[in-house]
Amino acid sequence: MIRLQGLSLVFGEQTIFNNITQLIQEDEKIGLVGPNGAGKSTLLKAIAGQQKLTGGHVQITSGMRVAYLPQEVVLQSQYSIFDETMLAYGELGQWHVRARELERAGQMDCDEYATLQSDLAAHDYGSKASQARKVLVGLGFEQERHEMPVSTLSVGWQMRVVLTKLLLQDADMYLFDEPTNHLDLQAREWLCRFLRQSRSGYLLISHDRYVLDQVCEKTFVLGKGKLRIYDGNYSYYRRAYDEQVAHFRAAKEAQDRDIAQRKQTIERFKAKASKAKMAKSMEKQLDRMERVEFDEEMVPEIGLPFPPLERAGEVVLRVENLSKSFGEKLIFKDASFEVARGERIAIVAPNGAGKTTLLSCLYGAHKPDAGTFSFGHNVATAVFEQEQVAALNQNATVLEEVENGACKTMRGQVRRVLGALLFSGDSVHKKIRVLSGGERNRVALAKLLVQQVNMLILDEPTNHLDLLAQQVLTEGLASYQGTVIFVSHDRDVVSKVATAIISLDQGKVSYYPGTYESFCFMREQQAAAQSAAQRSNKGVAQAAAPVKAKAQTDLPADPRKALQAIEREIAKLDEAVKKAVMVLGDYEYGTAEYDRALDKYDRLREQLDEQQKLWEEVYAASVA
Ligand SMILES: Nc1ncnc2c1ncn2[C@@H]1O[C@H](COP(=O)(O)OP(=O)(O)OP(=O)(O)O)[C@@H](O)[C@H]1O
Ligand SMILES: [Mg+2]
Repeated sequence: MIRLQGLSLVFGEQTIFNNITQLIQEDEKIGLVGPNGAGKSTLLKAIAGQQKLTGGHVQITSGMRVAYLPQEVVLQSQYSIFDETMLAYGELGQWHVRARELERAGQMDCDEYATLQSDLAAHDYGSKASQARKVLVGLGFEQERHEMPVSTLSVGWQMRVVLTKLLLQDADMYLFDEPTNHLDLQAREWLCRFLRQSRSGYLLISHDRYVLDQVCEKTFVLGKGKLRIYDGNYSYYRRAYDEQVAHFRAAKEAQDRDIAQRKQTIERFKAKASKAKMAKSMEKQLDRMERVEFDEEMVPEIGLPFPPLERAGEVVLRVENLSKSFGEKLIFKDASFEVARGERIAIVAPNGAGKTTLLSCLYGAHKPDAGTFSFGHNVATAVFEQEQVAALNQNATVLEEVENGACKTMRGQVRRVLGALLFSGDSVHKKIRVLSGGERNRVALAKLLVQQVNMLILDEPTNHLDLLAQQVLTEGLASYQGTVIFVSHDRDVVSKVATAIISLDQGKVSYYPGTYESFCFMREQQAAAQSAAQRSNKGVAQAAAPVKAKAQTDLPADPRKALQAIEREIAKLDEAVKKAVMVLGDYEYGTAEYDRALDKYDRLREQLDEQQKLWEEVYAASVA
């Protein structure tokens, strides 16, 4: 059990914790949410014993193992990815590393090696090593990469190594500070599954609603120094919160009316000498009356203001036969595409395929090996990426830093932009060096939005942003009149912002006009068609006659129409499954409603699988 006892913390004028007392049980799966800068990271640090407090203390039951993943980590290691990961097992890891050293030196017939081998075997080495590989693969390290030195990894990938090591420790309680930030969709899904099945409890900070809904059964909301507790996942909290807001608003309105009436009476009474005393006492009573107060979360009234656009040519970017490899590894080859004015293009690719590399070739951070690209007439670009966040001037204030880069027309609007990005009042005078992760990202974004440009190049713009800031940015981008080309791991952002998709798969770059949904659908269809074709080929080769016979009996009169009908059915079911997942998030785990919703989800999922199988069969039959 973890006991937070009267935690208080003040930074300058900002109260981060105002006498917080709370118990956390070992097996609780808790999401910790709150706006950027609320103090979430600071709370985890305090529990991990790495943050001095102004008052109060944290008590952890003795023997309870707590593991902490900070928001930003730097991993210094001379080992390979696999060896570094094995070090998570303490002594066993040390033996493993030593045994490998001896192997590399060819000293396998010494006594030490024999002892190591028997020690390793006695401590379940085989299954531990395979568990380590499993987690590595789950988090996106393909087996071939396990021997690469950790030192060659980018910060984002180093994070994954740290996360892997943490998961292998099998702690009682994990403190995760935005663990999914550097993960792509696949790795995110994997982690969610892992956490759901895990016996460990955790306190997990995330700004990703999907992740929170999937893995948390309880929600802590940190804001204005206080911790509010909700007994359900993120969606549950939002609903409960909205209800509370509605309730308090109504209560406040009623109270305001009451106060106005009392004031009128007081004024009336004051005018009469006989009732002046009464008026006085009523006034006192009114002053003492407890006011209904409720802090609504700060919601910006304005959307993001963009600078007026200078019109660019029809084609804003032309890429021809662009190729890039890193050593042996081909990232992309002969990429050719055009971007038209006003398009918003998402680059989509599986794990580690090189989305950022493709994007960064366009703004000069990488040099392509071959091919050319050129921006169109009158195109002015601005770039957002993590390096720029790192390059902010640590000693400037938020306001200074953004004003410095503003174009003439936007100079007067800097505060508006900062306000839209949720920097309110005095917070614009904070120095960059004390900002939280999300606050820094927002400053870098603000800098980008006050430049006189008409094309934005963005790499993971919503990383670290709280849900409100994400919403502001997503909505802003979706209504932006200029051109955008971007990479994001957040499917919500991709599906709301993108008007076209560039996919990167095994070195091949393709352009799909249309939204992310239509792109996904098209790809599923292609995959299904492919596997059907493969199956039918195999079938024909192995047993030509029976397959043919079956196909003939099953084949509908008009296979093309039948396929279309099934596709429509699949699309419907797909929607229904998505909805069912959302509904699932509304119920508390373990309740009857939850079980019913789960049943429904399972049934829909089955139907969807059946329809997909059917589609493949009809397709196979129609081409046989
Ligand atoms: N040394 C310091 N002096 C003054 N203010 C500080 C200092 N360290 C942190 N802060 C402020 O404390 C607040 C809480 O920071 P913290 O990193 O805990 O936020 P967070 O909730 O994790 O935010 P995010 O979602 O952006 O990661 C921030 O507003 C930050 O600017
Ligand atoms: Mg933080």
